[in-house]
Amino acid sequence: MSFHIDPDTRKARTLTADFYTDPAYFELSKERIFARSWQFAGKADDLGDLTPMTVLPGVLDEPVVIVKTSEWITCLSNVCTHRGKILVEGPCSADLIRCRYHGRRFALDGRMISMPEFDDVEDFPSEADNLTKLPFAEVGGFLFTSVAPLTGFSEWIDGVEHLFDAAPTSGLAMTARREYEINAHWALYCENYLEGFHIPYVHKGLNAVVDYGSYSTDLFGHTSVQTAYGVSKERAAPAQVEARYLFIFPNLMFNFYPWGISVNVVRPITHEKTSVEFLTYVRDEDLLEKGAGADLHAVEMEDEAVVESVQKGIRSRFYDRGRYSPSREQGTHHFHRLIAGFMNDK
Ligand code: FES
Ligand SMILES: [Fe+2]
Repeated sequence: MSFHIDPDTRKARTLTADFYTDPAYFELSKERIFARSWQFAGKADDLGDLTPMTVLPGVLDEPVVIVKTSEWITCLSNVCTHRGKILVEGPCSADLIRCRYHGRRFALDGRMISMPEFDDVEDFPSEADNLTKLPFAEVGGFLFTSVAPLTGFSEWIDGVEHLFDAAPTSGLAMTARREYEINAHWALYCENYLEGFHIPYVHKGLNAVVDYGSYSTDLFGHTSVQTAYGVSKERAAPAQVEARYLFIFPNLMFNFYPWGISVNVVRPITHEKTSVEFLTYVRDEDLLEKGAGADLHAVEMEDEAVVESVQKGIRSRFYDRGRYSPSREQGTHHFHRLIAGFMNDK
């Protein structure tokens, strides 16, 4: 098995349909793609002292706990190093973590501090008795973790950090959370997000407020940024940025609007079912109903309809793969190149 996407968009063909239709590739993508990527772990402002969570439920299923003190924040394995019980069962505050099975205690930095009835145990405690600290990173108050990252987080998002500085989010808590379920492969949902090519055809409302001509895509290592400018009312007026759509491979979308940020976390369920969480962080309520960031629900419904239609189409015996528009599908091409690279690399 090997996927190949030509680096030249003019020559390239898209991913073959079996990537989306074969459940074996879906299974393989869990370790090859998701385990080696960075995953969203919430926003520091939304978290209490100890917050248990699962990294990408159903895909990586890794139980972790985010520990926040006044000085630092870290992400630990939430599995007791004795016989494997989950340690922290719900959000709470505590000075230490105590296992409710046989009483092993850990400091908040993960160090094992005591264990009853272990006096005669040889080589105890050792490093393996401490809780594993997961790779963990923060940008603009947003938290990320990974079980086995291919690169560090700053390298992963190299070239796009400034977007978070330009839209300061400290003190900004989540104001709304919505979840959508789509009958399609996760990558079909993402690759639709990665091009503005379909806007005039699929999103009539959005098309009325963004300027198709100046819509642009910038590519970086594991990320891409699409910029949508507004249609200027007066000819001479400089176009306003209506939206910046940041995609962090393989499944995270940070949408910067004048009113704040909408974060979309794409979670694969099966090779033909995907859940997408929409997390809303509002900075300026007054701008909520204006421009490209208004009525995201309607845009989402339009996107889901086309993506679900593609899901049916790629199963056709007469479809295998397509070609790219060099001027409009750079983001999708870049995404397919990353998928091919991760899937081929053992
Ligand atoms: S499993 Fe935690 S102390 Fe035994
Ligand atoms: Fe769309």
